[in-house]
Amino acid sequence: MAVIKIKESIYFVGANHWDRRLFDELIPLPDGTSYNAYLVIGENKVALIDTVDPQTKQQLFDNLDELKIKKIDYVISNHAEQDHSGVITDVLEKYPEAKVVTNEKCKVMLMDLLLIPEEKFIVIKEKDTLDLGGKTLEFYMIPWVHWPETMATYLKEDKILFPCDMFGSHTATSDIFDEEHFYVPAKRYYAEIMSPFRNNVRNNIEKIKKLDIEIIAPSHGYIYKDAKKIISAYEDWSSENVKNEVVIAYVSMHGSTKKMAEFLREELIKRGIKVNFFNLTVTDTGALAMSLIDAATLVIATPTTLAGIHPKAAYVLYLANLLRIKTKFISIVSSYGWAEKTLEVVKTLAPNVKAEVVYPVITKGYPKEKDFKELEKLADEILAKHKSLILV
Ligand code: FEO
Repeated sequence: MAVIKIKESIYFVGANHWDRRLFDELIPLPDGTSYNAYLVIGENKVALIDTVDPQTKQQLFDNLDELKIKKIDYVISNHAEQDHSGVITDVLEKYPEAKVVTNEKCKVMLMDLLLIPEEKFIVIKEKDTLDLGGKTLEFYMIPWVHWPETMATYLKEDKILFPCDMFGSHTATSDIFDEEHFYVPAKRYYAEIMSPFRNNVRNNIEKIKKLDIEIIAPSHGYIYKDAKKIISAYEDWSSENVKNEVVIAYVSMHGSTKKMAEFLREELIKRGIKVNFFNLTVTDTGALAMSLIDAATLVIATPTTLAGIHPKAAYVLYLANLLRIKTKFISIVSSYGWAEKTLEVVKTLAPNVKAEVVYPVITKGYPKEKDFKELEKLADEILAKHKSLILV
């Protein structure tokens, strides 16, 4: 992606990665991603804020050449993960006078990950400033969004916050200021990357809200000219609030579980509950994670497989555990075999999920009249639980 001017002497110099389809070999990227590096040119000094993933380094160097940058004084490293730090050593090679500016924790990680020698660093602390001449960078620690060393850089005169991963979105785009379409990619990103750390997200939002911010320029995806939009979305997503929604995640080998999942779906809809319905054999993990941001209840529908839960259903519990979902209720719909172990299975596979187990429905073989009655009862039970949270 070519250079984009954000404000006078402030440029996007990063890279789009249009055809990347997996992040960390785990997270689906239906729209690719971008690595947003920024250049701030002061009257005396030049700072590069973060770099790009090594796979796209040529785009960064082409952009620096397009701006005819002969000298970089500082490389600000907000986060040690290699999609932002991975080209620092190349930058230091091309601009040997540059110093890496970061906090102590990040310095140690960069020395370990990239073998950067200690003498190349300038270590800063909370609220330290760096004067570029008419442009002042100020640093704020924002731990755990995404790693413990993550920090944000605030450009005081221009009221721009560079928060690295926080407020990011995995999308490659030709219009980085597209504020119409930010919501879904940003929510997906939040669900996949930030949701396990929602307490930290809330604390960090409180911290950055004390700054006078006009523009938020994260290190992935869209740049926000109206910072309030994305801050307010993050406040909603990171709150403990849930909505009158149920996620049904099902896997079915011979159709019995599918029949039950579909019946329950319709019963919930009849009761005015929004349902997000996922066939786990084809489910996009990101879409499932996004739905779990809002759902008050998660229902896992699974056949018995080798006397236990189907591995695809177990994966949902494992994922829910990793994401520390805030879902308040959880239920299991399944065929005969391990009814008495339901609670145990949930507790073992998802100890971080504090949801209450609600009325599991376990049938023998293809569902019969009495089983459908049980599913109706489960739908009633879920409605009652949602009402108890004043969601309905
Ligand atoms: Fe975009 Fe945690 O790196």
